[in-house]
Amino acid sequence: MKVFARRGHYIRLYFVYGVVLYLILLIFDYWLVKTQLPTSPNTRVAYLQTPIEDIRIVECGFFSPFCRPVLLFWRWDRSSKNLYKSWLPWKRAYVFVKRPVRYISGVTMTIEDLVIDRQNMKRNKHGLRIRQGPNGDICDVEGLLGSDVAEVRKGWSPVPSDFLLLGRPILLTQRYCSYPLPSTIDSLKKETPAFVEVPVNEQKNKLKILQLSDLHYSTELAKCRDSYPPERPSNCMADATTNAFVIELIKRESPDLVLFTGDLINGDTVEDSKTSLMKALAPVVDYEIPFAVAYGNHDSLGDLANDGLAQIVNQVPGNIGLVGNISGVGNFVLRNPGKFSIYVLDSHAGTSNGRACPMYDAIKKDQLVWLKSRKMEFENDPIQMVFFHIPLREFCEVDDMVGSYREKCSSSYCDPGTAKTLSELRIPLAVAGHDHVNDFCGMHKTHQVRFCMAGGSGFGGYGGHGGYIRRARIWELNPSERTIRTWKRLEWPPEDRSKIFDDQTFNV
Ligand SMILES: *[C@@H]1O[C@H](CO)[C@@H](O)[C@H](O)[C@H]1NC(C)=O
Repeated sequence: MKVFARRGHYIRLYFVYGVVLYLILLIFDYWLVKTQLPTSPNTRVAYLQTPIEDIRIVECGFFSPFCRPVLLFWRWDRSSKNLYKSWLPWKRAYVFVKRPVRYISGVTMTIEDLVIDRQNMKRNKHGLRIRQGPNGDICDVEGLLGSDVAEVRKGWSPVPSDFLLLGRPILLTQRYCSYPLPSTIDSLKKETPAFVEVPVNEQKNKLKILQLSDLHYSTELAKCRDSYPPERPSNCMADATTNAFVIELIKRESPDLVLFTGDLINGDTVEDSKTSLMKALAPVVDYEIPFAVAYGNHDSLGDLANDGLAQIVNQVPGNIGLVGNISGVGNFVLRNPGKFSIYVLDSHAGTSNGRACPMYDAIKKDQLVWLKSRKMEFENDPIQMVFFHIPLREFCEVDDMVGSYREKCSSSYCDPGTAKTLSELRIPLAVAGHDHVNDFCGMHKTHQVRFCMAGGSGFGGYGGHGGYIRRARIWELNPSERTIRTWKRLEWPPEDRSKIFDDQTFNV
C-alpha cells in the first residue's frame, strides 16, 4: 500500500513540475516576442530585410512547447504558417529561420542559397542545407502546401529541388533580400492614382478581355464539384481541370487582359489562402497576360482577408489592379483615355449583421459617390462598363435574355440603389459573377442598363442545376465603332471548345 501511495505522490509532483515549467516557458516566450522582436515599422522592416543565417523545420505535437513563435534558442524566429494545417491536426510543423532577433544595423551575413539535399538527409533531418548561391541573400523562407502549387510572386522563387515531404508535399520558397519587402496595405491604399492606363493594340484598336469568374481554387487536389456531363472521367480533379480550361481559353483567345471577377479561391475550404490564390493566378502569369482582380464573397473566408490577398496580388507580375482608397478592397478604373473606362467595384461578402442586412453585404454609398465622380471625369470615353462580383437584384429583372438563367439572383437586400446610380450616370453595361449557373445578358427596361452574368468557370465551386457545363465570357471593346461585343466558350465537350456561342454586339 505504501509503495503505491509514494508512486502516486511522485506522479503528482512531476505533473506539477511539468505544468510549472511549461508556464515558465510560455511566459519566457511571451517576453521574448514582446521585447526581442522589433515592432516599430522601421525596425521591423530592417529585421525582415536581415539575411537569414540558417533554416530548420521543427515538427512537434499540438501541446509541445517547442513550436513557439521564438524558439528557445532565441535567434530562431518562426514563420507563422503551420505546414501541417488540417492535414494532421495533432501535429504541427514550422519553418524556423535564424537571424539576429535583436536587429543590429549594419550586420553582414554571408550570401547563401538554399537546397534540399537528399544525399544528406540523415545529417539534417529534412535534408535542408544552405549553400553559396548566385542570387544573393535570402531574407525569408516559407512553405506552400500541396503538390500542385506555384510560386508567382516577384522576388520569390522555389527552393531548387524536389518537394519537401512532411507527411505531405510542401514547396519551400525563398525571398531574396534584393527585392523590397511587399507593400503594406496602407501604402497600397495611399498609392491610388485616378485610373490605371491600359494600352490598346494600335493596329486592332480593340481591347479583348477574358473574364474569369468563380474559379474556386483550393489547396491540394480537391475533387470536382457537380462534375458534368457524366462522360467526363470520374476522377475529375477540380484545380487541374480548371487550370486546363483557363489555359485553353488563353490559347484560343489570346486576350489583352484577364479580369478575375471574384471567388478565385474557395476560401471556406482552403487550408492556405496564399497557396490557393497563387494557383489561381499561375496560368495567367505563365502566359504573361496583364490581369486585375475583383474579390468575391468566398475569397476572404480562408486564413487571409481581402487586404492580405491584395498584398499578394500586388507582388505578382502582370497585376494592374489597385486596392483603392474607398470602402472595400479592389475599387479602381482601367482606362484608355478617349477610348474606354472600365470600373471595378468591390461588392463585399456575406454580412455579419444578418438582421439589418441578411445574406450579403452591398456596395457602399461612398463607392457610388466615387463611381459618380470618376464617371464625370471620364465622361468622354465612348465605352463605359462596370464589373463586380455579386449581382444586383435588378440583374434578374431583365428582358430579352440571351444565355441561361438557372437560379435566382443571390443579391444583397441592402443595396443603396446601385442600379439607379448606373442608370443616372448612363453607364450602359454592368457585369457580375457569383451565380455560377447564370450566364445571361439582358436589358433592364426601367433603368436602361444592360446586365450580364459571367457564368462560373471553376470546378471547385458548385454547378448542377440540371447539368451545368463550366464556361467563360469574353469581351471585346471597340471604341472607334462604339461597340461592346461579348461571347462565351464551353469547357465540354472537348470538340466544342473551338466554338463560340451567344455572340452579341451592343452599340453604346
Ligand atoms: C484617394 O485617391 C484619389 C486619387 O484617385 C485622391 O484624389 C483622394 O484624395 C484619395 N483619398 C484619400 C482619402 O486618400
